[in-house]
Amino acid sequence: MKEEVEMIISQMDHVTESTKAGILYREGTFRNKQVVVCMTGVGKVNAAVCTQQLIETFGVDAVLFTGVAGALDPALEIGDIVVSTECMQHDMDVTPLGFKRGIIPYQENSIFAADADLVKLAKASCDKLFSGRAVLGRVLSGDQFIASPDVVRMLRQDLEGACVEMEGSAVAQVCAMHQIPYVVIRSMSDKADGSADVSYAEFTKLAAQNSYSIVEDMVQAI
Ligand code: ADE
Repeated sequence: MKEEVEMIISQMDHVTESTKAGILYREGTFRNKQVVVCMTGVGKVNAAVCTQQLIETFGVDAVLFTGVAGALDPALEIGDIVVSTECMQHDMDVTPLGFKRGIIPYQENSIFAADADLVKLAKASCDKLFSGRAVLGRVLSGDQFIASPDVVRMLRQDLEGACVEMEGSAVAQVCAMHQIPYVVIRSMSDKADGSADVSYAEFTKLAAQNSYSIVEDMVQAI
């Protein structure tokens, strides 16, 4: 989110900016570590292009991805955090050819494991700095904003998702293709069921502050 990026940029030194394929990248140092900060934009294609650039053009050796998601795990409340153990595309649907939902045909893997050390680090930072609930779980991604109790039930029961969003699995798949470690950290902005009981503007400010503190703590520890 813009709010998250702006908080990091304001604390970076030696910033150089470049734009590639319409995405603005800021390189510099943050807490004495070399970083590249950017916003992927919405959806899997934007996230995939951005991640490929981060790896190929900027040579990053790890990817931390933050943002908001819809909660699928009924134990999660608005504002709680999911740290990815793995990511999967819920809209990959080749069921007419006999593949299970989420399975990408003719390749070894469709569920992309997050890096165990980054997961541990993210959870430790959440537990240290965040007063709400932070859980580990499977992040589901698709090019759809989910707002239906029936879809929530299916994503929870069939695909065992903890939360649903629109980018993480694309980031995860590109990282896996290059063997680059990644973790996704998502703040729950809604319950993906169409119930709107939170002020989005107010929520994003709070979520951005939380994810900034977590990323800062992780970068210092890496
Ligand atoms: N990001 C935040 N909430 C979401 C939802 N319900 N579906 C998809 N992406 C989201």
